[in-house]
This record gives sequence, structure tokens and C-alpha cells, in this order.
Amino acid sequence: MKEFVLLNGNVVSSKGIHKADVLVMNGKIAAVGTGAAGRKNIPFIDLKGRHVLPGLIDVHVHFRTPGMTKKEDWVTGSKAALAGGVTTVLDMPNTRPPTVNAHSLQEKRKLVKAKALVNYGFYAGATPQNFQAIKKMKGVAGVKIYMGSSTGNLLVDDRKVLEKFFSDKKHIFAIHAESESCIHEHMKKAGLSNDPVIHSAIRPPECAYEAVKEVLHLAKKYGTRVHLCHVSTQKELDTVRKFKNENVSVEVTPHHLFLSSKDYAEYGNLMKVNPPIREIADQTALWEGIKDGTVDMIATDHAPHLLFEKEGSYPTVPSGVPGVQTMLPLLLNAVNERHLSLEKVVELTSANPAQRFGIKGKGAIEAGMDADIAVVDMGLREKVYRQYLWSKCGWSPFEGWVLKGWPEMTFVNGNLMYEWRARFGTIKGREVQFDR
Ligand code: NCD
Ligand code: ZN
Repeated sequence: MKEFVLLNGNVVSSKGIHKADVLVMNGKIAAVGTGAAGRKNIPFIDLKGRHVLPGLIDVHVHFRTPGMTKKEDWVTGSKAALAGGVTTVLDMPNTRPPTVNAHSLQEKRKLVKAKALVNYGFYAGATPQNFQAIKKMKGVAGVKIYMGSSTGNLLVDDRKVLEKFFSDKKHIFAIHAESESCIHEHMKKAGLSNDPVIHSAIRPPECAYEAVKEVLHLAKKYGTRVHLCHVSTQKELDTVRKFKNENVSVEVTPHHLFLSSKDYAEYGNLMKVNPPIREIADQTALWEGIKDGTVDMIATDHAPHLLFEKEGSYPTVPSGVPGVQTMLPLLLNAVNERHLSLEKVVELTSANPAQRFGIKGKGAIEAGMDADIAVVDMGLREKVYRQYLWSKCGWSPFEGWVLKGWPEMTFVNGNLMYEWRARFGTIKGREVQFDR
């Protein structure tokens, strides 16, 4: 279908919701309004009042290509994204080999181009040595800096190296802010244990706070643009509030919003993740940060590991949880429970990510934008079933949760790529362009 109309929708932007038809032509939104359906002989889909959201932009996924495709590949990762209303993903560099120079970026581009069913962009990964090499990596979403070690071997825990990177005004630096020395200190204190709860003690809030403090200090000194990944504690948010300006953006994840340390009893190592799941007080602080605008976006840190890998004993289990498929239904359910508005969901998952990263043509249902669209049914109540999880990892911490509000159709570049509950298109996505 090159041309079609979505009839009788409720179009959602970060500013409001209005009844409208959406005319799609050649992969773009051609018109939005009550007159959009005025043209005869165009195929249409009657949405009967369902909500029309700009496709979600998940600025933090690990789709594992190259080198870890047993955990995820771009077909399974894309399908999970599509079923979750996500039409664009920005992929992290901690692959094997890591994406740390022009050559590894080129190789990744080739592999992903042949498989992706959603739109995509790539981060470059910072290492102590690749300051020059990163300059040759064209068209990246940003530069990821791991200040604390996590899955993979990317780490920059040397202040001098960090300062060198921060003097670069061209890029956005996406920071995994946990202090490596702080983690080591707490590891020594904690000693050996097989209890998954220990993960939250080894990487306590103060390790995140220390790193965030350093980042904000350096960002101010150099005027660097920084994006704080997966902020998870009250202390980080309070610090951000003091230093926030247009150069600083804050991301939180669904797992930090919807899980807390009391859930270790049920999930154990399944919820081992960096930064760790926090106490209820921190979880509450994240929701406050959403309300008062300190939080700019929600992204998943979709980090799939296979079930058998997550079933080992604590020290051997890799950190990371999948999330790209469940983010939107969790948030729609939260809208139904009045924790936030649907407009706010669009702001946090589409409008702000597009604006902050300068992703061309995305983030709103408006004439001239790309036709990346999630149609959602706010009244649909369903369980998260394993059988309908599309990530190759095959599990989710949210399995069995009954959620009200689900994506029913997902369009990417004007192509119907997902239809509730198991129908997928085959047309490839495109690499996004950044406006900077
Ligand atoms: C991520 C992974 O598995 O790639 N794991 C995680 O716990 N978040 C790595 C990361 O980004 O920290
Ligand atoms: Zn991550």
C-alpha cells in the first residue's frame, strides 16, 4: 500500500490528543486532519477511535550483532520492537567485536541493513585509545562511555581519558554512569555470595551518584552534550536537578520504573542488571522525575541473555534484561492507572528522543514526517505470554503481568509491519539520519 488513510483515530502528540484521519503517501505522513480522508479511491483502515502514536524511538538497545547472535539478532530484535510499537532503535556498541572504529561500524552496517525490520542508528563505543578513530565514524547517534564495567569489555574509568572525550563538542555522549572504583570497593566489602540481592549492594546508589557527579562537573567545564543512560536513583536525579541545562538529558528504563528490590525474591538473577534494580524509594523518585520534567525519556536498555545463561549462580550470570517489546504496554497500563498521561508517554518515548538526538523526520504524527506509527488500543487487556515474546532470549521479567493498553498495529516508513498478535511484514528498515 503506497497510499492509505487511517480513519477515525485519536492522534496523540506531546501537547494533546485530537480526532483525525492520517493520510500516508510514499512512506510519509501526507496530511493529518478531518479532511485527510476526502480523497476517493484510497484504501483505508477504520481505527474506530483507537489512539495513533508516533512510533516509539528506543535510544538504548543491545541487538547483539555482531558476535552474540545466539542471544538476539536483528530479525528477532526487530520483531520484539515492532510488537512493542517501537519503530526506531539506537544500538549500543558492546558487541563482539565492539563498534569502536570506522571498520567495525561499516561491518555492523552491512549486517544490520540486510536484516532490520525497523529503523536504526548506531552508537560508537569509547575506549581509552580510540579518540582519533571515533572521529572517522560518520553518522553515529552518539558515543557510548562505560564508566563502570558491564557486559562486554568497553570501559573508560580514567579521568584524563574522559576529559579528552568531553572536550569534543560534536558528539552526544551517552554515559553508563557507575563508578568502577566504587563498584570494586563494594565488591570487596560484600565478599562472596550466591544471593542475587548482593548485586544491588555491590553497585549501590552512591556508585551511580559519584559517576553522575563527575559527568555533570566535566560536562559543565567543557560544554559537552551528555545523555545519562538508565538513571535509577533519587540521588542522581537530585544532582541532575542542580546542574541540568540543555546539554544534559536523562533516560530511565522500564525495569527501574516497574521493578524494585523486593522483586528479587521472585525473579532472582533474572533481574540482575546494571545499574541494579533499586529500593522502592528510588523507584518512586523516578516517577517524580517524570512528573517534574527532570526525566527526558524512557528507553529500554534491552539487553537480552538466554534463559539458561540467566539460570546460573549469581557470579556467573550476565547482567541485562530484555525490554523493547514490553515498554509500551507497561506504559499504557500505567496511563490507565493514572500514573502519567498518554501525551507524556509520547513525549518521553518519541518526541524527546527524536529532538534530543536530532533524528530527522521522526517523533510526531504531522504532515511531512516519516510514517512511523503505533496504533494502540487503550482498552485491550491481555497477559504478557511467553509464546508472544519475539526476542530470541525468549523470556521477560514481565511475563504473566496483565496489562491494559496494547499496540495493535505498527507502521514503519508507511509499511504495515506488525498486526496484533503475531503478524509481521518483511520490508527492511532504514538507517536514520541525524541533524547535526
Ligand atoms: C548490558 C548488556 O547486557 O549488554 N547489560 C546491562 O546490565 N545493562 C550492558 C550494559 O549496557 O550495561
Ligand atoms: Zn545498556
